[in-house]
Amino acid sequence: MKKKALIYGVTGQDGSYLTELLLKKKYEVHGVKRRSSSINTDRIDHLYQDPHEKNKRFILHYGDISDSISVNNLVTKIKPDEIYNLAAQSHVGVSFQIPEYTTNVDALGTLRILEAIKSLNLKKKIKFYQAGTSEMFGKTGGGYQNEKTKFYPRSPYAASKVYAHWITINYRESYNIFASNGILFNHESPVRGETFVTKKIISGLCKIKNKKLKTLYLGNIYAKRDWGHARDYVEAMWKILQQKKPDDFVIATGKQYTVKQFINLVCKKLKIKIRWSGKGLNERAYNDKGDVIIKIDKNYFRPTEVDTLLGDSSKARRILKWKPKVNIHGLIEEMISYEM
Ligand code: NAP
Ligand code: GDD
Repeated sequence: MKKKALIYGVTGQDGSYLTELLLKKKYEVHGVKRRSSSINTDRIDHLYQDPHEKNKRFILHYGDISDSISVNNLVTKIKPDEIYNLAAQSHVGVSFQIPEYTTNVDALGTLRILEAIKSLNLKKKIKFYQAGTSEMFGKTGGGYQNEKTKFYPRSPYAASKVYAHWITINYRESYNIFASNGILFNHESPVRGETFVTKKIISGLCKIKNKKLKTLYLGNIYAKRDWGHARDYVEAMWKILQQKKPDDFVIATGKQYTVKQFINLVCKKLKIKIRWSGKGLNERAYNDKGDVIIKIDKNYFRPTEVDTLLGDSSKARRILKWKPKVNIHGLIEEMISYEM
C-alpha cells in the first residue's frame, strides 16, 4: 500500500528536496504551509498538483506548529505513516533577536507533534523524524563530533533544538513511539535561504562578477563548518525512518572549511582574482582592479559564536549505508550555475 508522509517545513530548503525524494518513492506527500501575505511556496511550485486532480500525490494544508489545534487536526485527518518535523525558525543569528518565538516553534513545536502522536493513540502507526542540528554541539573546542559528543548550545536556536532532541528521546523511551533524531551538519543547495552564509557569498559574488553589486558585507569569516548538499541529507532523513528501531544519527561530510576558504573557492570558480588585506573588522578583500569587494560588518557577528563544527558520521555510514555524493566543489558549482 502507498505510504503517507506528513512534512512540517515543506516550503523550506529541506522540505522541497524531501518532497521530491518521497514523490519519487511513490509516497503520498502531505505538506504543511503557513499562511503568508506573500507567496512562500517558490521552492515547491514545480511539484504542485491541482487539488482537483484525480490521484494526486502531493497535497498542501495550512497549519503551524505553534498551534496545537491545527497539529492535532492534521495528524488526525491524515494519519500518516511518517512525520518529518523540519519546521523551524532556522536562522541562528535571528534567534538572538526573537528568542521566545524561536523557542516556541523550535522546541515546543516538536513537543506538540509528539504529544499528538501519543494522545491520538497513533504510536503504532506513525514514525517521527526530528530535524536536529550540529549547532547543539556549540562550543566544541575542535575535533570531530559524533552521537556521543556532549551538547553546549550557543544560541536560543541551539538551546531550543537541544530541548527538541531530548523530548524526542523522552517520548521514544516513555511511550515507545518510533521517534528518531537526525543531527545534521550544515547543508546547502541552490534553494538555500538568502541570508545563510554560503548563499549570501555565492549570490553576492555572482552579482559582483556581473557588476550588479560593488561590495559584500560579512561577519566572522574564521568560523569553520562542515558543508554538505541538502539533496544528500534528505536521503539520510528517509533512511533513518526505514530502520527497524528508532535511533539518533549524525549526518556530515567529515570535511571542514572556514568561511574565508569558502569565499576563496567561490572566487576561483568565478575567476575573480581575490587579495586579502588587514585584520579583524578592518580585513578586506580586493579584486585585481583594486576595488574592495568584501568588507567586514560587526552587525553580522553573533553574541556567542560556534567556532568549529566537523562531523563524524561513521554510525550513519555503517548502519544506514549512507554517504554524501556531493563534495564542496560540486556544491559550489551547482549553486553558482543556478545563481548565474
Ligand atoms: P528553512 O529553509 O528555514 O525552512 C524552515 C521551514 O519551516 C520553512 O518551510 C518554514 O516555513 C517552516 N516553518 C517555520 N516556522 C514554522 C511554524 N511555526 N509552523 C510551521 N512551519 C514553520 O530550513 P532548512 O534549511 O530547510 O532546515 C530544515 C530543518 O532542519 C530546520 O528545522 C532546521 O533547523 C534544521 N537543520 C537545518 C540544517 C541546514 O544546514 N540546513 C542543519 C541542521 C538542521 P516558511 O517557508 O513559511 O518560512
Ligand atoms: N548568516 C551569516 N551571514 N553568517 C555569517 C556571515 C553573514 O554575513 N558572515 C559570517 N558568517 C558565519 C556565521 O557567524 C557562522 O559562523 C557561519 O558563517 C555559518 O552561518 P550560517 O550560514 O548562518 O549557518 P549556521 O552554521 O549559523 O546555521 C546553519 O547550520 C546549522 C547546522 O549547523 C543553519 O542552517 C541552522 O538552521 C543549522 O541548524
